[in-house]
Amino acid sequence: MADLRTNLAGIASPNPFWLASAPPTNSGYQIMRAFEAGWGGAVWKTLGDPIVNVTSRFAGLNAAGYRMFGMNNIELITDRSLEDNCREIVEVKKRFPDRAIVVSLMMECKRERWRDLVARVEQTGCDGLELNFGCPHGMSERGMGSAVGQDPELIEEVTSWVVEATRIPVLVKLTPNVTSIKHMGRAARRGKAAGISLINTVNSLMGVDLETWNPIPHVDGKSSHGGFCGPAVKPIALNMVGECARDSEIGIPLSGIGGIATWSDAVEFMLMGATSVQVCTAVMHHGFRIVGDMIEGLNNYLDGRGIARAQDIIGKTVPKFVDWNDLNLDYKIVARIDQSLCIHCNKCYIACEDAAHQCIDRIPRNGTTDCVVDESHCVGCNLCQMVCPVDDCITMVRVDDGRSTRTWHDVEATQV
Ligand SMILES: Cc1cc2nc3c(=O)[nH]c(=O)nc-3n(C[C@H](O)[C@H](O)[C@H](O)COP(=O)(O)O)c2cc1C
Ligand code: SF4
Ligand code: SF4
Repeated sequence: MADLRTNLAGIASPNPFWLASAPPTNSGYQIMRAFEAGWGGAVWKTLGDPIVNVTSRFAGLNAAGYRMFGMNNIELITDRSLEDNCREIVEVKKRFPDRAIVVSLMMECKRERWRDLVARVEQTGCDGLELNFGCPHGMSERGMGSAVGQDPELIEEVTSWVVEATRIPVLVKLTPNVTSIKHMGRAARRGKAAGISLINTVNSLMGVDLETWNPIPHVDGKSSHGGFCGPAVKPIALNMVGECARDSEIGIPLSGIGGIATWSDAVEFMLMGATSVQVCTAVMHHGFRIVGDMIEGLNNYLDGRGIARAQDIIGKTVPKFVDWNDLNLDYKIVARIDQSLCIHCNKCYIACEDAAHQCIDRIPRNGTTDCVVDESHCVGCNLCQMVCPVDDCITMVRVDDGRSTRTWHDVEATQV
């Protein structure tokens, strides 16, 4: 049994699985039940000035039989009082001293107001603070959330106010709705954040009702842009975690968030540099119990590879995540079709003919038509393999000799 203990910037937890700040962390009752189920930590639903929520606030994107493949929300921060939340944080910490309790905070950009909030929350005995610079809707229109996370100067300034006002670790939660995540991560570092959590939700509008012409979800016939999350955002989140992990000017621990639903998603984020992972949509979909499978899966993965500690895999993929100009132009793969598995659906042929490089031929044989790749023209784009409905029917095979390496940098050097 591997050692799953995690320590992110001094915030310790028995495993890397934390609940993200969201509806599942809205109350002490929920977080205690989550901890009973095995979650290693929780980021409390964002505390700040009292807000009023609209009633219709979520919408789901179903894809190919998968419900809630994506989720859109226009919910704001907690609508419960600071007093109630702080009292419950004390209770949860007392009952579960070994779990990480991080409290998410949001406040208008006034130093004294941040200081007051931090002082009040720190008294609860929580293990860390997470500054919500990510919420892209509602609060951002009031100058908070992603309005801060989209401005590096504000990120640095507000972070430094909080860091000065507290002794516990301060994490900065970033919005993905920016042109360059690493510049935002660097600003958090300059503000002396202990770590970065990413990502919050992606700006989105879930849809339009074709009968009523209402945007979805609508509030009395109208809607506003919301935040998109769930499995559909995982590639966006993974890229942003990797971008921050490989940036030498950031260099602080990361908590990965975005579309994580299984142990293998979590492993991918850890390999890409996340010390802990946070989960929201998958818990909203399936409940707290999913953490049991996540713990077991991570354990089995590590044991199967003889890796003693979960922390030993953190960042192992980061050196392989490079700029395009550092890729090997001499690496060559081609598609190969296993005719014994082919069901002659022609999907690969159509894809290659209409959208790739016209290098799959249809050759009549034994009363049917075989799809055969012209390897000399195949550019190894993978499209035919992606569209093929039969597992392992198309494989991508390496055909270069594996000895030569030539990057775009090398090409440029020879041009000078
Ligand atoms: C309904 C809802 C409410 C959320 N509220 C908050 C919040 O109060 N504070 C915060 O930092 N993030 C909030 N989030 C964002 C999540 O913490 C998380 O960053 C995002 O959902 C991506 O993770 P996921 O793909 O696992 O859902 C909320 C997300 C949802 C779906
Ligand atoms: S890998 Fe791309 S180019 Fe090669 S056969 Fe498949 S679709 Fe065509
Ligand atoms: S997509 Fe796959 S199954 Fe269909 S014809 Fe091509 S190789 Fe055969």
